Parts: sequence; C-alpha cells; structure tokens
Amino acid sequence: MFLKIIRYPAYVTLLCMAVLCMAVVSPMVAQAENTKNDQLKRGELVYKRFCSLCHGANLEGQKNWRIRKPNGRLPAPPHDETGHTWHHADELLFGITKLGMIPPYAPADYKSDMPAWGDTLSDDDIWAVIAYIKSRWPEETRKIQADINNEALQRQRE
Ligand code: HEC
Repeated sequence: MFLKIIRYPAYVTLLCMAVLCMAVVSPMVAQAENTKNDQLKRGELVYKRFCSLCHGANLEGQKNWRIRKPNGRLPAPPHDETGHTWHHADELLFGITKLGMIPPYAPADYKSDMPAWGDTLSDDDIWAVIAYIKSRWPEETRKIQADINNEALQRQRE
C-alpha cells in the first residue's frame, strides 16, 4: 500500500528522466557548438594572417601549383577541395604546419617554401586553422577525409 503511493506511474518517471536529460545535455551541446564556432573564427583569423599570402585568400593556392618553380621548389597548393590537403589525416596536416616539410613529412634534404609555424602559432591555433580549412570543404570531401583520418588513427593503435 505504502509503496503504491510513492511509486509514480512509469510515464511520469520517464518524463522526468527526459526533462532531466534535456536539461543536462542541451547546454552541453550548445557549449560544444559555441566552442566549435569560436575555434572556426580563430582558425579563419589565423588563416588570413599567416596562410592566405601563399595558399590564397580563398584557399585556391598558387598558380600552376603542381609545377616546380625554376628554383626546384613547389608553389603553395590549394587547401580547398581542388588540392590534396584533404588526402591527408589531421595529424599529418598538424605536423606539417607545426614543423614544416621535414622528415617524416619530406626527405631530409627537401627544400620547401612552406614555413614551420611551431614558433609562431600555438598548438590550439594550428588545430583551429586546420578546422577552418576543413570547414571550407564540401560535405563529400569532408566525409572522405574523415575516413582517411579514421584509418590513420586505426593504424596508430595497431
Ligand atoms: C610562404 C608561403 C607559405 C605560407 C605563408 C604558408 N604555406 Fe603552407 N605550403 C607552402 C608551400 C610552398 C607548400 C608545398 C610544400 C612542398 O611540397 O614543398 C605548402 C604546403 C602546406 C601543407 C601541405 C599540404 C598538402 O596538401 O600536402 C599544409 C598542411 C600547409 N602548407 C599548411 C599551411 C598553413 C596552415 C599555413 C598558415 C599557418 C601555411 N601553410 C602557410 C607555402 C606556404
């Protein structure tokens, strides 16, 4: 008898749980969205200030970027979907940006105009600029790169 009084019908319990869930989860989702937007804004600023000079204001890269210049160096490739940035996993893009074209990203004697940004930019800035670059790709390109990413992470774990 006593138990019957304090026991709420199942739907009340469920409703309470749902409300509680929403109260906890939706601010978390909103927070994550805000953090993501902040990161993209920061990435865009970093891109405009430090990368656009070579990789282009619209991520279009330099002219004839596939052809080496007379000094043997490659022009800056586009970071949009017409380039090959999206062929690479995030870790590699991060490494190249932070350390430049040195082993393991390029042979030891490789000469490149791509600067190393590790002394200028924080790791967060570098992740932000990579997030910004990725945000400019079409959905399909993002999906393919996400697969490449997962494969790379898988390999790391093996
Ligand atoms: C002074 C010109 C210059 C600036 C500024 C520059 N880059 Fe580069 N970047 C290059 C060149 C040239 C290459 C091609 C490297 C090679 O293969 O020799 C390159 C290649 C890259 C790659 C490899 C891309 C791929 O598809 O393999 C990444 C990633 C990259 N740059 C990121 C950045 C980011 C992020 C910034 C800004 C923080 C930046 N770069 C600023 C010249 C530049």
